[in-house]
Amino acid sequence: MHREITIKYEYFEDYNELSKDEVDLIQKAYGICEKAYAPYSEFKVGASILLSNGEVILGNNQENTAYPSGLCAERVALFYANANYDSDKVQTIVVVSNGDLIDEKLVITPCGSCRQVMLESEKRQDEPIRIVLVAHNRSVYVFQSIQDLLPFGFGSNF
Ligand code: THU
Repeated sequence: MHREITIKYEYFEDYNELSKDEVDLIQKAYGICEKAYAPYSEFKVGASILLSNGEVILGNNQENTAYPSGLCAERVALFYANANYDSDKVQTIVVVSNGDLIDEKLVITPCGSCRQVMLESEKRQDEPIRIVLVAHNRSVYVFQSIQDLLPFGFGSNF
């Protein structure tokens, strides 16, 4: 039997088309992106998280000379949020980047491991996370749930 999965997302040519609060979240992500520790890849990533209590959590990628010991911006931010605000829900995560690793028209998309961690966060809080991904040319891709970025993820209710 043939089956299909549809992936839904919204596209905006410029992130200024989003709400003022979300633009603010994007600017905060760019701020923390500049403080990333990425001497090996020279590719800086920033993540900002809006919690249900209104708090904003920031993270950036942290690399290490022993390469696998580094961690992506998304997981730095998400683990901090889960560690310190375990009873508050993650409403939105914004991801931005700065570096030549991807073309300016291409959008930064979370790696497989970060998607798996987002999936677990959604499952724990029983509410979807809005994921806002910003390209270097300011265009934005918005996903309403990690289910759209990780279909058939381990442990998901597909
Ligand atoms: N990186 C992130 O922080 N998030 C992503 O979504 C993709 C990649 C980091 C890992 C590494 O420090 C650098 O970007 C180059 O891969």
